[in-house]
Amino acid sequence: MNKLSGILLLVLLSVALVPAQEKKAGEEALGSRKYTDYEKPEACGASCHIDFYQQWKQAMMSQAYAHHWDEIEYSKLAIPDAEKDPKMAGVKTGCNGCQAPISFLVGDVPPPKPEENSRANESVSCDVCHTMTGFKGDTPFNFNFVSEPGRVKYGPRDGVVSPAHETKKSDFYKTAEFCGTCHNEKDGFDVWVKSTHLESKEGPYAKQGVVCQDCHMTFAVGRNATMGPELPNAAQHLFHGAHDPGKVRGTIELRIHPDIRKAEPGERVKLTVALFNQKTGHKFPTGSAEERLLWLHVEATDAKGSVFRLKVDKKGFPGEEYTIAANTLAYQDMGIPLLSCSTTCLGMSSISRSDSSRYPIRSSSASSG
Ligand code: HEC
Ligand code: HEC
Ligand code: HEC
Repeated sequence: MNKLSGILLLVLLSVALVPAQEKKAGEEALGSRKYTDYEKPEACGASCHIDFYQQWKQAMMSQAYAHHWDEIEYSKLAIPDAEKDPKMAGVKTGCNGCQAPISFLVGDVPPPKPEENSRANESVSCDVCHTMTGFKGDTPFNFNFVSEPGRVKYGPRDGVVSPAHETKKSDFYKTAEFCGTCHNEKDGFDVWVKSTHLESKEGPYAKQGVVCQDCHMTFAVGRNATMGPELPNAAQHLFHGAHDPGKVRGTIELRIHPDIRKAEPGERVKLTVALFNQKTGHKFPTGSAEERLLWLHVEATDAKGSVFRLKVDKKGFPGEEYTIAANTLAYQDMGIPLLSCSTTCLGMSSISRSDSSRYPIRSSSASSG
């Protein structure tokens, strides 16, 4: 090869490489876009995607920035933490990469507070997801998706014609990695603080080819858009998770059995609890697992109907050293007002740690008789 064609090849190679390098993802995409690059979800849902829009409105996706608890977590916990510890500094902008992606991409961070009704409140909108073209690196995490807003909307199907935009099929929408770009998070200390996608990847479902969409975007007979044909398998935009009691119910199959059939007074009975996570493709709880508390409430009722709390012993085996012991309060106050927690949140309680009189054993007066 002579020198000239060598140079030419080099020039061609660098020309071919440039567009790939320009695709920004994760932290480097901060401030790379304008708000007007992204369609408002109302525009998608007004007359064409009414059905999906209504589903999305009910899901956490549309509330990720403005939801009461997210507001506490971001402005009262994350921002002060970021200001104290340089290793946490990234969360001040970074949280928004997934909770208010457009504001992050525009560089409007911290975004205006939810009550100011800015575009941050759109949270994870239609156009955030439907303009993603892939992710950068080997592992999806910390919003390392590539956002390429414009007239082309990407989706799972070929040959879809829309009067409002162009459509393009992308196999990325059928993968768990798509979801992993936000449902895996590594913090400033290099610790995985959210790992739903990684958990799922190691689990038995993924090995059978089951992806997040199979459980969270189930297929149903329906239309993609009002004017589209009826499809046998329109991907529903439910994103139902821990905020939906119906989704959580039955997640853990639980059986408890004694080691003897009959016990004399004073005799010890050993009760074994068998738990089986039969319903999730990942761990339970998952997501921000530090906020999702799960405990086993064990009580016994005698012949007179009096209720006793059974002591649960510390397990003490590696990885489970912190299993809650019989004399420890199993959960803590997370600052959420207790409206109807039994139906709206999992494992959260406003019972204060120090208030032992409110330890969750049914009082004997309530169960007397
Ligand atoms: C751009 C970031 C982003 C992407 C991509 C993403 N999510 Fe989410 N997801 C979020 C955020 C933010 C929340 C809300 C968390 C919160 O504030 O409680 C959420 C919440 C959820 C929830 C929980 C709902 C609940 O009731 O707790 C489920 C389930 C979920 N996502 C599934 C998926 C699936 C499946 C995919 C892939 C098809 C996906 N997500 C892709 C950001 C994303
Ligand atoms: C086999 C079905 C199944 C698969 C596959 C599955 N999930 Fe779930 N997921 C569930 C169920 C059931 C729940 C509700 C119980 C719970 O909170 O874990 C749930 C809960 C969640 C939550 C809510 C967690 C919380 O505490 O707010 C998120 C987020 C989530 N899934 C994301 C994903 C992502 C991302 C994937 C793919 C990497 C995925 N799921 C794969 C069944 C599944
Ligand atoms: C968290 C990301 C996310 C959000 C938010 C989201 N979508 Fe989707 N959407 C997907 C994924 C992933 C698929 C493909 C699912 C599959 O086929 O398995 C999809 C599929 C679709 C499809 C094609 C369905 C089919 O079966 O052909 C349409 C249309 C669509 N979305 C419109 C919308 C609209 C409108 C909104 C806002 C109201 C929206 N999406 C919000 C991720 C998202």
